[in-house]
Amino acid sequence: MSKTYGVGIAGLGTVGSGFLKQLKNFKTHSQKTANINVIKIAVKNLRKKRSLSVKSLPLTTDTMSLATNDNIDILIELIGGSKGIAYKVVKKALQNNKHVITANKALLAVHGNELSKIAEQNNVCLNYEAAIAGGIPIVKAVRENLRLNKINKIYGILNGTCNYILTKMENNAGDFKNVLNDAQKKGFAELDPTFDIQGIDAAHKITLLSSIAFDIPVNFKATFIEGITKIDKYDFVFAKELGYSIKLLSVASKKLSKIEQRVHPCFVKLKSDIAKVSNEINAVVVNDLVIGKNIFEGPGAGAGPTGASVMSDLMDIIRGTYNYPLGVSMKKRKKLKIQKIDDLSFPYYLRITAKDKAGVMAKISKALSKRKISIESIIQKPSKRSNFAEIILITHTVKESSLLSSIKQIKRLPEVSSSVKFIRIEDSL
Ligand code: HSE
Repeated sequence: MSKTYGVGIAGLGTVGSGFLKQLKNFKTHSQKTANINVIKIAVKNLRKKRSLSVKSLPLTTDTMSLATNDNIDILIELIGGSKGIAYKVVKKALQNNKHVITANKALLAVHGNELSKIAEQNNVCLNYEAAIAGGIPIVKAVRENLRLNKINKIYGILNGTCNYILTKMENNAGDFKNVLNDAQKKGFAELDPTFDIQGIDAAHKITLLSSIAFDIPVNFKATFIEGITKIDKYDFVFAKELGYSIKLLSVASKKLSKIEQRVHPCFVKLKSDIAKVSNEINAVVVNDLVIGKNIFEGPGAGAGPTGASVMSDLMDIIRGTYNYPLGVSMKKRKKLKIQKIDDLSFPYYLRITAKDKAGVMAKISKALSKRKISIESIIQKPSKRSNFAEIILITHTVKESSLLSSIKQIKRLPEVSSSVKFIRIEDSL
């Protein structure tokens, strides 16, 4: 038996409990590996009721002491959040030459450049498999393997809460608010679901994937983010009629040294792989120039999947596997231009509520054709409002800035109600 590793765990929620369970199984079943000793577990509240017995656990409320304890070689940060104690304890631990494992995507999306620099300078690991898509080993796959093959696009479903809500809406379980309430009751959505439903959680994750896939600095501010709160059940009805599903899609791509980083609801073909990913499941598709397409699918959250990812990060450290936190050394990371959403082009779904009378369609067509936006298909449905109609258009590919100025003109038409909705379409998936 080789060296003994001292581990400090900060946070004992879902991920922490899942990890401790994994560790117990590992110690029972594994015979000839290193000793892992949990030295301290920092919690906010010693008296809190937990899903596991804490009687024999070395609990403390002094989180920062984990970063200075000489018996701790590896800090496992499972508190969450980009600010406050999570940031402080991780930074201090890295400065004190401790390896760090974290499940905290917000922390890395905001402070990833600074923290990875400290880890690199001190030659310690900063591993974060549990931070992106829970149990799917996507960090390992991209950071250690696939990036060598020149990745050109990563896309997928990186937020289980949103996918659960959208799946239920698609299956007629109700409108956004009812489905969200139901998801909260069943534990598939947080009591404060803001980060999930506004797309922020998925944006943290795709920002990190973009950095490790394309060897660029982490740039969360440049990621375009739009959540799912404006999607309603009628959008699903119209989407289905047109052969589409609606997903919260996260995309990172590189073309001619230009990067796209975006999270937004998207029409995807019903027969695409991504449309078939349902409920709380996550999926990541990686396209590269050597292998082509790899699809990863699995649970993106929960004690088992995230605990297993933390365990795998720990094993890497114990085996002596060192990877630069962001795939390549700081010096080799290149700052590439991240494109603004206005400059990207898509086909679009447009939904316009307008008075059902002669001439309206002609005016809408004029606003579109003025900017050379051509219509691929069109359907008209009765609206909930009497004497109004829902006009559903699918456009050919057009630059977003042109679409936005057409919408501005359409909204000014006296026959059109103020809400004109548009959803981007990814036809090539
Ligand atoms: N809240 C996330 C989700 C899981 O719903 O996918 C943690 O990243």
